[in-house]
Amino acid sequence: MTMALENPKLLSLAAGFTDNRTLPVAAVQAAVQALASQSGAPDYLQYGTNQGRPELRALLAERLLQQEPGLDAGAVKRGFFITNGSQQALYLAMQVLCEPGDIVLVDRPSYFVYLEMLAGLGVRARSLPVDAAGRIDGPGLRTLLGDLRVQGDLARLKAVYFVSYFSNPSGRSLDEEEKAVIAEELTAAGALVPVVEDAAYRELYYETAHPARSVLSLPAWTAFPKLYLSTLTKPFASGLKVGYGTSSHPELLARMLHVKGHHDFGTAHFNQAILEQVLAHGGLDAQLAVIRPAYLKKMRALHTALTDAGLPALGWQWAVPTGGLYLWLNAPATLDTGLESAFCRACIEAGVLYVPGELCFGDDAPKHFIRLSFGVLAEAELAEAGRRFVAVARRFSRGDA
Ligand SMILES: Cc1ncc(COP(=O)(O)O)c(C=O)c1O
Repeated sequence: MTMALENPKLLSLAAGFTDNRTLPVAAVQAAVQALASQSGAPDYLQYGTNQGRPELRALLAERLLQQEPGLDAGAVKRGFFITNGSQQALYLAMQVLCEPGDIVLVDRPSYFVYLEMLAGLGVRARSLPVDAAGRIDGPGLRTLLGDLRVQGDLARLKAVYFVSYFSNPSGRSLDEEEKAVIAEELTAAGALVPVVEDAAYRELYYETAHPARSVLSLPAWTAFPKLYLSTLTKPFASGLKVGYGTSSHPELLARMLHVKGHHDFGTAHFNQAILEQVLAHGGLDAQLAVIRPAYLKKMRALHTALTDAGLPALGWQWAVPTGGLYLWLNAPATLDTGLESAFCRACIEAGVLYVPGELCFGDDAPKHFIRLSFGVLAEAELAEAGRRFVAVARRFSRGDA
């Protein structure tokens, strides 16, 4: 990071930020004006409730019910809550579910800030096994759960977590079959542990929503305590820092809210009120209609820059995502792209920054993956960053780095 800061010309493909150019200034201005011109007590400048503004909860619950019409509306609404970003909800969940030394199953690769949080809490992450295509590997999971039992560790397994739509970092979405396989293997092992489905990017598809229903709807998960989390940061404004979720399990929710009371006794009420106005007047859909094509163009700008400069011919592979903010590059297996690697240093010297993929694994981290984010930079900058990146990859491929 020091090297990065010393180089003002550096183009960062590292931060998972959204694009300043498409942030919804006018929608926020209209919402604030509408609030300020309301008669009656300015409740939005007052403390709110720990669980979140009731009307915002109702609007968001309704939105989820439209996405998944088969859901039990009463249960979704009762279990609904608002947090200071979905990051807070992740923390609350892990704090109430886990003790140091416990184990959480995580997707492979997984959201690295969450993995860091687990490490900070002294919780062990074990990766859900995947096949070569990145799909959940049921037999592999059976073996892993069997091994945990033999080691006397199955009772330490306290939760399973995955980012199921346009994942950070992989851009992949899980299909219903994959989600069901996880539930079936856990059921067979007698491990009905809480499931945390992180749907942070669900609404950030480019053209078509991913059709898979969440664990809230899938029959294989019926008997499990469920926590479904999402956020308004990525699809609307990260600066408002409002996340949300719903839990099928009143006791889990009560325990999380109890700890939330200790954190903040309620997410910033003004920010919630702004978002309530936005949602009530169609502002979220209007914003999504702006950013979906914008991120598609940005993704293509980076993808095309990498392809045109010849990265595939150097043995690099990646899938073209259909939503989200990331390209997940698979470098030749012999190339170390880790935090301490010569490749990483060479990229910084060439003026381009990335997230080393090694940070995105709960265990057994390979060193030849890279996460590139196209959220922040403009298209021309993405093209330039892509060229710089491939120039470094070419030097390392020739061995003259
Ligand atoms: C997969 C995933 N989950 C959760 C979060 C947290 O988002 P927020 O706290 O902004 O809602 C992020 C942020 O990057 C993320 O990528």
